[in-house]
Amino acid sequence: MLELSDLHTYYGESHVLQGLTLSVRPGEIVTILGRNGMGKTTLMRSIIGFTPPRRGRVCFKGDDVTRWPPFRMVEHGMALVPQGRRVFASLTVRENLEVARQSRTGQWTLPRVLELFPRLGDRATNRANKLSGGEQQMLAIGRALMSDPDLLLMDEPTEGLAPLLVREVGRVIAGLKREGLSILLVEQNLPLALSVADRVHILSRGQIVHSSGPAELMANETVKARYLGVA
Ligand SMILES: Nc1ncnc2c1ncn2[C@@H]1O[C@H](COP(=O)(O)OP(=O)(O)O)[C@@H](O)[C@H]1O
Ligand SMILES: [Mg+2]
Repeated sequence: MLELSDLHTYYGESHVLQGLTLSVRPGEIVTILGRNGMGKTTLMRSIIGFTPPRRGRVCFKGDDVTRWPPFRMVEHGMALVPQGRRVFASLTVRENLEVARQSRTGQWTLPRVLELFPRLGDRATNRANKLSGGEQQMLAIGRALMSDPDLLLMDEPTEGLAPLLVREVGRVIAGLKREGLSILLVEQNLPLALSVADRVHILSRGQIVHSSGPAELMANETVKARYLGVA
């Protein structure tokens, strides 16, 4: 589904991603863990094209899409749930969803998104800035689904949410996997990250420093203490 090879991404002279290689197979959830400032968001931006890599290659569904602009990536079946949700504050819930609709006709339609998130249906005519943090997160996920993606990039979808809502987001992610979506998930909530992941990578200073299955990381106290600050 997604193959990244030797990505190097810069902000000006600042060399943030330093040779990053990873892949996501169809139907898989791959989770990226790592402390703040390690390059997780830069990785997402590099893949979807907001901050294209200076070196390296992005392959998506068999096509070399390196340095494609974001709108073409979305047309091609990739969607991003950005860190901090970034819903359109002055638009209604329904408008937030409708602006994201693509001409691609696939399984995710407005009725299906509202079926997945009934709360958004209840609030369809409310402005997005009137929603709670949890509702805004569901809206950000729903908006991404409206483009009917094959691959979903999710950047810290549980950030700032209460524990009950963290579990709710976890259930949504597991449900999307059952629908056949492939997901690259950046997540700092370790229990949630491990519960949904097929494979995990830890990012530190722009490089992958650990790769394993979730159970193996769960048992590895040394790696957790060193890179995730878990006592
Ligand atoms: N727009 C930007 N311009 C310059 N430096 C940036 C920019 N965005 C992020 N950085 C820097 O790049 C590094 C990685 O940031 P980021 O990818 O946001 O990390 P994470 O998502 O893991 O917290 C940090 O040192 C951060 O300060
Ligand atoms: Mg980030």
